[in-house]
Amino acid sequence: MTWKLGGAAAALLMVLGAAGYGAMGPDRLGDETRAAYRRPAAIPFPEENAYSLAKAELGRRLFFDPLLSGERDRTCASCHNPDHAWGDSRARAEARDGLALPRRTPTLLNLAWQERLGWDGKFRDLDTVAFTPITSERMMNLPEAEALARLAADPDYAKGFADAFPDPAVTRERVEAALATFERLIVSPDAPFDRWIAGDETAVDAKAKHGFALFTGKAGCAACHSGWAFSDGSFHDIGSATGEDIGRGKFFPNSPALRYAFKTPGLRQVTERGPYMHDGSVPTLEAVIDLYNCGGIDRPSRSKDIRALALSPGEKADIVAFLKTLSADKPARVAEGGFPATAPQP
Ligand code: HEC
Ligand code: HEC
Repeated sequence: MTWKLGGAAAALLMVLGAAGYGAMGPDRLGDETRAAYRRPAAIPFPEENAYSLAKAELGRRLFFDPLLSGERDRTCASCHNPDHAWGDSRARAEARDGLALPRRTPTLLNLAWQERLGWDGKFRDLDTVAFTPITSERMMNLPEAEALARLAADPDYAKGFADAFPDPAVTRERVEAALATFERLIVSPDAPFDRWIAGDETAVDAKAKHGFALFTGKAGCAACHSGWAFSDGSFHDIGSATGEDIGRGKFFPNSPALRYAFKTPGLRQVTERGPYMHDGSVPTLEAVIDLYNCGGIDRPSRSKDIRALALSPGEKADIVAFLKTLSADKPARVAEGGFPATAPQP
């Protein structure tokens, strides 16, 4: 159900984007396009896990603390590294035994705006992710009871939990809530694209503007990579994956459209985040565009929005030029700075 709604919303955004362009010519943005791609003014926090400075500070500490791994040698940041746009720059994440896990580490940028998480949507929301990597033998290898006991035995953490919650009790739900509060503060920094959307015509060059017109028009990318963070939060088969990992299809064996469907990744800071796709199988942005240009494997699960595109070499280069404008000049290490006391702004 979720993926159907996502698709409809994305299609609407694309129509708006195209209309905005048509009205204004190729290098001036229409008001609808500006509205559809403008950075939001504030980070949304769910009612049941509202923002507080104490919770964010506790979450940051947990995120970078090796205490949460069995051998005290790994943290969340071992894979979600702020210096690698909150990923690890590996094709697939590294297990404790040094071998590759089945999938690539996704960035944690802009998750406050995403509902289902994991490449296959196996996580209902951000507040229910953390104990999967913590307890996974190949990832952090710490049983839940031991994680809670270690935290409860640490006087500094007792104070941290007492500041963030009504009492010092250490529970799984509180660990999850604190980590999620910290993760919601991981927002991609202001990029040249944002300055263009905000009205500065000199912020990006003509090639990038043409690339954005192709992205929202002829190349059809915005059917799925929609909105300011460039993801519809939905799941699609782009016709490239083969092999045993069938993504969301595992949970919906009777839905042919979800075979090989993976979550649309956001495209912020995308230049810093290769190699690409859920399995790290595509090394560069140029190779990503070539893949879309071919249209992928023609099969029943392939999205109706994927087809051979017949892009010229110049058009392909312009799309890459546009994608580069989604990366800020400074790295996306926002969450390491001080946190606002109330109502955080991205
Ligand atoms: C060994 C590397 C590794 C470690 C350590 C790790 N992760 Fe991950 N993380 C991954 C991989 C790989 C995925 C993708 C899993 C999938 O889709 O099947 C992921 C997915 C996620 C997601 C979903 C992101 C999205 O875009 O869907 C979140 C949130 C997350 N991890 C948070 C954490 C937190 C919090 C910790 C520490 C408690 C942590 N991770 C530790 C590798 C790691
Ligand atoms: C039908 C929906 C859809 C369309 C249309 C689409 N994408 Fe994607 N895109 C996805 C999905 C789903 C993935 C992840 C696939 C995977 O992991 O196997 C992805 C992955 C990517 C990635 C890799 C990001 C990462 O972090 O790994 C880039 C870059 C990208 N797309 C750019 C584009 C461009 C440029 C276009 C237009 C030429 C486009 N996409 C069209 C859904 C789409």
